[in-house]
Amino acid sequence: MDPAFWRARWQNQEIGFHQPVIHELLQKHWPHLELAAGSQVFVPLCGKSLDMVWLAEQGHKVVGAELSEIAIDDFFADRRLKPTTRRVGNFLVKSAEAYELWCGDIFELPPVAVAGVAGVYDRAALVAFPADLQGRYVAKLRELLPAAAPILLIALDYDATRMTGPPFSVPRRQIDHVFADSHAITEMECREALDLNPRFRQRGLTALVECAYVLRRR
Ligand SMILES: C[S@@+](CC[C@H](N)C(=O)[O-])C[C@H]1O[C@@H](n2cnc3c(N)ncnc32)[C@H](O)[C@@H]1O
Repeated sequence: MDPAFWRARWQNQEIGFHQPVIHELLQKHWPHLELAAGSQVFVPLCGKSLDMVWLAEQGHKVVGAELSEIAIDDFFADRRLKPTTRRVGNFLVKSAEAYELWCGDIFELPPVAVAGVAGVYDRAALVAFPADLQGRYVAKLRELLPAAAPILLIALDYDATRMTGPPFSVPRRQIDHVFADSHAITEMECREALDLNPRFRQRGLTALVECAYVLRRR
């Protein structure tokens, strides 16, 4: 999707993807990554997700990347944090306490932003891109991330003839297509998720499956 699309979504507060609770599959499956407390983790396309708060509560330092300055400012304001701001190339980097949020296009993120990360949490990031950009996104992650950093990925699978993304349907065969050359893929859990996301019923879905995967570089 083009950056203007997402900036307009934040401008107009059309942010149905934002969850008021910590994601259950994050809490359940993050421990499988076995990351050290105190290690840095990366949340691509972070929005103002509360999941970052949970990650910080586990003792992690959280690096996020997000296009919208509104999302980043809301995240800090909601926690009554006053971040310091610095400019790195095209990015504004806002930091306070455990959080360092890079405002800009992830495709331009410099490697220095994530050079120290030990793990990655992707919820609603891969699925935010249409299929033709998903490969580019995964290639960017590969280029940026330390090889040892595992990824907890939460993806959605639905009948794409019934709804146009975002979020896009990313079934297991597409995850294999974009990751299997470089990563070992472990499916941790798949669950029916339409009742948890009733807004997709109004958009035409009659079934929605949400899966958590752990991806490790080969
Ligand atoms: C579907 S939302 C998910 C946000 C967050 N992960 C969550 O779970 O609430 C996708 C987010 O990615 C941001 N985004 C989209 N394209 C981006 C890009 N190229 N670089 C950085 N952020 C981007 C959007 O502004 C939006 O906040």
